[in-house]
Amino acid sequence: MNIAAGSAQSVADNQAPLATWRLIAALAVLLATGVLSGACSDDGATGPPIVQPLPDSSGIYSEVFSDPETACKGCHPTHYEEWSISMHAYSFVDPVFFRLNEIGQERSNGQLGSFCTDCHSPIASRLNEVPPNTPEASLSKLARAGVSCDVCHKAESWRPGHAIDGFRLDDAQIGTIQDPMPNGFHSSRYDADFSRSGVCEGCHDIVNPLGVHVERTSTEHDASLYPGQGIFCQTCHMLTYTGQAAIGAPVRGNLHRHSMAGVDVPLTDFPGRDKMIELVELQLTRSITLTVNAPTEATRSENLRILVDVFNTNVGHSIPSGSVFERQMWVEVIARDADTGEELYSSGTLDPNGDLLDEHSEFVQSGDMQPDLELALFNGIPKKNGETTSFFWEAHEIVFRLIPALEGRTSIYHIPAQQLEGVDRISLAVRVLFRAFPPHFLREIELPELVERVPQFTMDEYQTEIQLQ
Ligand code: HEC
Ligand code: HEC
Ligand code: HEC
Ligand code: HEC
Ligand code: HEC
Repeated sequence: MNIAAGSAQSVADNQAPLATWRLIAALAVLLATGVLSGACSDDGATGPPIVQPLPDSSGIYSEVFSDPETACKGCHPTHYEEWSISMHAYSFVDPVFFRLNEIGQERSNGQLGSFCTDCHSPIASRLNEVPPNTPEASLSKLARAGVSCDVCHKAESWRPGHAIDGFRLDDAQIGTIQDPMPNGFHSSRYDADFSRSGVCEGCHDIVNPLGVHVERTSTEHDASLYPGQGIFCQTCHMLTYTGQAAIGAPVRGNLHRHSMAGVDVPLTDFPGRDKMIELVELQLTRSITLTVNAPTEATRSENLRILVDVFNTNVGHSIPSGSVFERQMWVEVIARDADTGEELYSSGTLDPNGDLLDEHSEFVQSGDMQPDLELALFNGIPKKNGETTSFFWEAHEIVFRLIPALEGRTSIYHIPAQQLEGVDRISLAVRVLFRAFPPHFLREIELPELVERVPQFTMDEYQTEIQLQ
């Protein structure tokens, strides 16, 4: 499916009521923001930025910030549609977020405060709508919008690892259109830096309350060769297209997609879940290069060695990245007798609960299944006092097992000679798999019903046969 096609349709559909809509929008702003000088000035000129500290004591945030559906959708239908299926729109609807925040508040006796909310819905923090003090059911629509349009387009200063420090409190929307068509709702302000990674980096690195740098997407990206070549977050996550930035606006060749797919998809019936699964699959299948080094002929009496190299070809940071404590990217290797189909060796397969055969598997814990000693799993493991924890905000360190940008990792597999007796040909199948959450994690946080909603993606695969003598 092509998003542009759907949007072109809605542009046409919305042409007629535009004048009326603009009038209503402009009036609403005038009424709501009497305090704002220069509102609807239309000339793109703006006064000095006003940066306000947290939280909202004067009520200004509820006046300046708007809900995307009510305020932006009418004039920016394409941007709205794409954003509305994004993980940014999902960030303060996400049941996993609310459960983890709740667990964190309980375990810290409330010390966690607005830490999580500051990134997942910076406006909620400013409105003092911080769960669990504000119960989830009573959050306003504005807070629920999470990483909404205004969160990015009115951001003024960022503190990497701690979200956004300050917002513009005038009526300007910041963007990269140099000659924006004036409109009756907001003024526009050109800022070339909006094409660079800095606008994403406040949130896409996390320093936890203990000062530990637990998520590092931005740091990984900055350390890679990409920014030096003019390749930023937007280059890969906001592909360009030709269209209209707003209804009635001129056709431009460098507009930006706003669905911003990565690896994660909504686990609830959030609108656009199927579309997001498609977009994530596209991202994941063009990320890596898989090279399998296996002989075409081998001797039955010797252990058979297979090398599997996974190279991060196309990702502007490590894979996985960000929430690495939940992510799982792993290599599955299955060797069978090509004639009988009997399994001779496997690594990277799952137990009946769907977990990998490591220390998290209940079947390995009980001794019913053997641990997978050659498992190649790429993720991050939070440690608290040396012990593994599931909760990154409590971690003293993270053990990172990632593949950095433009680097590879080789894993080695040994098929024991005693398995090869009487076998003439081996069929070998290798896959690199990815999922956002392992089942044991969702069970631990008591959301087992979400396990079956987590898609598993095949990033790349390879098959071959080995002749034995
Ligand atoms: C009354 C119609 C209207 C409404 C409502 C509206 N916009 Fe706009 N916006 C426009 C027009 C027209 C442009 C200029 C497009 C162009 O020239 O290609 C624009 C441009 C922008 C730009 C680009 C600025 C630049 O210079 O790069 C951003 C960002 C933006 N709008 C965000 C928003 C957000 C966020 C909302 C909701 C809070 C919103 N707009 C509501 C009509 C509107
Ligand atoms: C996560 C941050 C983020 C969110 C959320 C976001 N935008 Fe943007 N938007 C950007 C960035 C960054 C650019 C400029 C990209 C570039 O130039 O490389 C942009 C560009 C634009 C433009 C200029 C035209 C274009 O496509 O380049 C408009 C209009 C716009 N956004 C409207 C919106 C609206 C409306 C929403 C909400 C429905 C929204 N944006 C949500 C980051 C965001
Ligand atoms: C205000 C904080 C904030 C800003 C600014 C921000 N993001 Fe995000 N982003 C988030 C949060 C929070 C999530 C995860 C939401 C969830 O899954 O609950 C996210 C999710 C994503 C994802 C999906 C990750 C996945 O696992 O699939 C991508 C891709 C992404 N952001 C890219 C960007 C880019 C590109 C920019 C800059 C143009 C940006 N973000 C700016 C907070 C932010
Ligand atoms: C060269 C292209 C490229 C650049 C540059 C890039 N990304 Fe990505 N990103 C990808 C691809 C492809 C994926 C999906 C594969 C993966 O990482 O597992 C991805 C995944 C992600 C994820 C999900 C990671 C996970 O494992 O949970 C986030 C979050 C993200 N990107 C944010 C960003 C941010 C923020 C920047 C800039 C600091 C950025 N990306 C720069 C290509 C890129
Ligand atoms: C500095 C900003 C920031 C803070 C603080 C933050 N997050 Fe996030 N969160 C993000 C970003 C960015 C992503 C997307 C990263 C990715 O997908 O790889 C994300 C993703 C998530 C996700 C969805 C993906 C996943 O795998 O879990 C959940 C749930 C989540 N965060 C919960 C929390 C909780 C709970 C807290 C507080 C203990 C918190 N976050 C604090 C920025 C932040």
